[in-house]
Amino acid sequence: MSELRIYSVEHDQPRVLAVYEHGKDIAAELAHIEVLFERWEANADLDEEASQDEVIEAYHESIDRLMQKYGFQSVDVVAMHPEHPGKEELRKKFLNEHVHSEFEVRFFVDGSGIFYIHRDDKVYVVHCKRGDLISVPAGYKHWFDMGSEPSFKAIRLFTSAEGWVANFTDDPIASRFPNMDEFKRERLARAG
Ligand SMILES: [Fe+2]
Repeated sequence: MSELRIYSVEHDQPRVLAVYEHGKDIAAELAHIEVLFERWEANADLDEEASQDEVIEAYHESIDRLMQKYGFQSVDVVAMHPEHPGKEELRKKFLNEHVHSEFEVRFFVDGSGIFYIHRDDKVYVVHCKRGDLISVPAGYKHWFDMGSEPSFKAIRLFTSAEGWVANFTDDPIASRFPNMDEFKRERLARAG
């Protein structure tokens, strides 16, 4: 299930302020900080081995709509799986707080990942699942966790290739938050 947890970070120690699980509520809360969140029907009949072109073709109507609305120039598909040889390195890459000069949009065709978006004295932790689309506006501090056993396929939309460079803030804030593995364990414990 998709989930949004809003934390306060006023005194360094993250404190949960609110939790939302319905797509409509998540979208409404994120709209307050100008983050776009949409639930799409990820119902294309794609198997695991689907090529980048097949994935893009399956969602081309929605992709075209976003490209026109936001002026995206290009699109690609990123896929991660637990046997990926570079998974640790790739995970570490975006696990620290950073900003981009252009905004990023991801649509989860499959699997899941967590975006942590830092605005003022709050952090918005968004557990994205199959069917979720999320944007991170330009200049917003954020980080991303795919977990130690990453499994997701996401469509990425770009306004330009250069905008993709991550500028790290050197704030260790990410280390004070539960990572994806910890959230998973917590959820399992709750489910009994
Ligand atoms: Fe990023």
